[in-house]
Amino acid sequence: MTTASEDLAALLDRYVLTPWVAQAGRTPPVIVRGEGSYLYDHVGKRYLDFSAGLVAVNLGHAHSGVAAAIAEQAGRLAYSAPSLGNDQRARLAAAISDLAPWDESCRVFFTTGGGEANEDAIKFARTLTGRHKVLTAYRSFHGSAPGAGTLTGENRRWPNEPGIPGVVRFFAPFPYRSPFHTLDAREETDRAIAHLEEVVRYEGGDRIAALLIEPIIGANGVIVFPDGYLARVRDLCTRYGILLIFDEVMTGFGRTGEAFAAQRFGVTPDLLTFAKGVTSAYVPLGGVAVRESLANYFDTRPLPSGHTFSGHPLAMAAGVAALRAYREEKLFARAREIEGWLRERFDALQRKHAVVGEARGVGAFFGLELVADRETREPLVAWQGAKTLQAFFNELLAEGLYVYGRYNVAIVSPPLTVSVDELDEGFAILDAALGRLGNLKRCS
Ligand SMILES: Cc1ncc(COP(=O)(O)O)c(C=O)c1O
Repeated sequence: MTTASEDLAALLDRYVLTPWVAQAGRTPPVIVRGEGSYLYDHVGKRYLDFSAGLVAVNLGHAHSGVAAAIAEQAGRLAYSAPSLGNDQRARLAAAISDLAPWDESCRVFFTTGGGEANEDAIKFARTLTGRHKVLTAYRSFHGSAPGAGTLTGENRRWPNEPGIPGVVRFFAPFPYRSPFHTLDAREETDRAIAHLEEVVRYEGGDRIAALLIEPIIGANGVIVFPDGYLARVRDLCTRYGILLIFDEVMTGFGRTGEAFAAQRFGVTPDLLTFAKGVTSAYVPLGGVAVRESLANYFDTRPLPSGHTFSGHPLAMAAGVAALRAYREEKLFARAREIEGWLRERFDALQRKHAVVGEARGVGAFFGLELVADRETREPLVAWQGAKTLQAFFNELLAEGLYVYGRYNVAIVSPPLTVSVDELDEGFAILDAALGRLGNLKRCS
């Protein structure tokens, strides 16, 4: 079917279901092309991609090396069953093992995305420990399907309820909005660990297979834990024989300035899950990395999982090429540089706009928290409330800036290839929009 470009918006509206939103009345741009930090819609308008899609397109759009690798693979072998060996699968798993945080090697089970990886990771942990329960944090996001959705600690879990059995949630620290009623980071950590240990005791430490946590809470506000928290979680897990799983779906592959947040924070999990950046989101791919001393359990027992698309050759080729590009273009180190540039620019925004409560982050991964009152920290729209800041995000789009966010937090996580000029372009648009938002608030 050929379609006039002006009909595409109508086709989308008529035939496509878009995630997480009411369908009526939306008019998103129809994106047809990308290049570097920019997206282009079907009428040629340009958008600066300030969130790398959903914190995923770490190499920017249309990277020629990755595109060529996918095309070459498609022409040579698009599919082989997971039970057969595959050259690219071997290469990618070995490359991930080289990047992984362990002082031993690891083995990788490939999935098609992050949620599926988390479901498989807890299945492995249950098999490895013979235990059943899994701990996850409130305000986490681990995926949408019923299993991963149950692991999730916010309102996107609710449609899955009652969900899968055995998942118990705890509060993790959030220095800006402490669930532990303190403004002191050290006290926050102490209380968060005491709370977690109490949850473990009430649930029975010897019944808990795994604790699954995002080392930086991503979609729910880019929350960076206070120093020492993750290390003490590691220690607690070790004491109770609980396997620690890092969900590095957003933080993996350079986002924090290291291959994984595990290295950035110097804390080593037992398993880690990944997706998004492994192929720079060019082909859907996720996976579970299991440290060798655990993975060898499955040498004599069947691995309790499998998917038709596990280790799909197109995804493997994209992953091998993406990891090569990260290395050759030194992009993990670049994320540290970007951190400095972002911090400087966010500090300026915070000085200028009272509506900016806090801008926090690590590497090329920042959250901009918008408030109605800086003193009381009252959010501009309530977290999980009825209102959203869609009008604000739409206005940014109209000005040529794509930013992804939830409720009162905008996530700024550009491709790791972003230039200083591009950052300045995006911050100028943000600056103007925040000014208008502040005026609106004063008038309301
Ligand atoms: C931390 C985290 N885990 C898991 C997921 C789910 O990944 P996917 O959408 O690939 O299933 C996401 C998605 O945004 C995520 O941010």
